Amino acid sequence: MAALVEARDLARSYEVKRGMFGGTAVVKALAGVSFSLEAGKTLAVVGESGCGKSTLARLLTMIEQPSAGSLTIGGIDVKLATAEQRKTLRREIQIVFQNPFGSLNPRQTIAQALEEPLLVNTRMSAGERREAALAMMRRVGLRPEQALRYPHMFSGGQRQRIAIARALMLRPKILVLDEPVSALDVSVRAQVLNLLAELQQEFKLAYIFISHDLSVVRHIADDVMVMYLGRAVEMGSRDALFSAPQHPYTRALMSATPQADPDRKRERIVLQGELPSPFAPPAGCAFNPRCPIVKPHCRDERPGLELKHDRLVACFEV
Ligand SMILES: Nc1ncnc2c1ncn2[C@@H]1O[C@H](COP(=O)(O)OP(=O)(O)OP(=O)(O)O)[C@@H](O)[C@H]1O
Ligand SMILES: [Mg+2]
Repeated sequence: MAALVEARDLARSYEVKRGMFGGTAVVKALAGVSFSLEAGKTLAVVGESGCGKSTLARLLTMIEQPSAGSLTIGGIDVKLATAEQRKTLRREIQIVFQNPFGSLNPRQTIAQALEEPLLVNTRMSAGERREAALAMMRRVGLRPEQALRYPHMFSGGQRQRIAIARALMLRPKILVLDEPVSALDVSVRAQVLNLLAELQQEFKLAYIFISHDLSVVRHIADDVMVMYLGRAVEMGSRDALFSAPQHPYTRALMSATPQADPDRKRERIVLQGELPSPFAPPAGCAFNPRCPIVKPHCRDERPGLELKHDRLVACFEV
């Protein structure tokens, strides 16, 4: 059976104006990423700021076109899809952003926000739309009598519940969650994560879960992709990655995350140096300037992803 989502060498570059004299530079925000995702599963995407996570999210949700590579959703190649197929795919893959203020219109009541996708995409009557909106509100833990309120009248956690409810109105198969709990108070985070886990079961959703918080990823992921400067450096099952991270970057990320389990001590590796400029990524392995086990050839040649120790890893030295 084909996977629900298949990405092959997905890439996206941006041309950026630099300076006052009209010079331009090209940023390879995403430099060739491949993965597949099965129905009902969660792929977590982790990595530091600027490594290309949101760019990947925009390609997957067809907000932007890839510069290269292919994306297949439900067996349909997005590039070759007819207008009708694209419309269907847009319903099937929805996105939830970190800050629900950005995705909720301040002048729309919650009922309007939830009914809008149905108004645009279905022939449901006004009564049916309202009924569906109220049912979804209940499902995400909001009270139906809050339906006529505006987004600013809710807490951050409630607003994120509304954004999730809106994303689910058209019964998608895939949710792309771009840092969905990062803006929330720690106390609210677990509640929203539990809700996402319940909804995944109930609606058999596949999640692409973008996060820089490994303690969250550890809870919800089936598979994990670790990104560095636009590329995957390690990818595999959650258990393989968390029990024995291989890439020095993954190891550094994990050791920088406080352990939930205090019995398991791990030596703390502090990430050295800054993330290099995306305009001028280092030759060879992009991680080499910060790598604790760098060897001379790492500066000349870029390691590709290879199957080692039950996961894919891009490092000559593991
Ligand atoms: N529209 C754009 N124009 C120019 N450069 C862009 C654009 N979008 C992203 N970039 C650049 O591409 C790179 C990847 O950006 P992206 O937003 O995907 O990173 P990210 O992993 O989501 O980071 P964060 O964790 O901060 O959200 C960055 O260097 C960014 O500056
Ligand atoms: Mg981002």
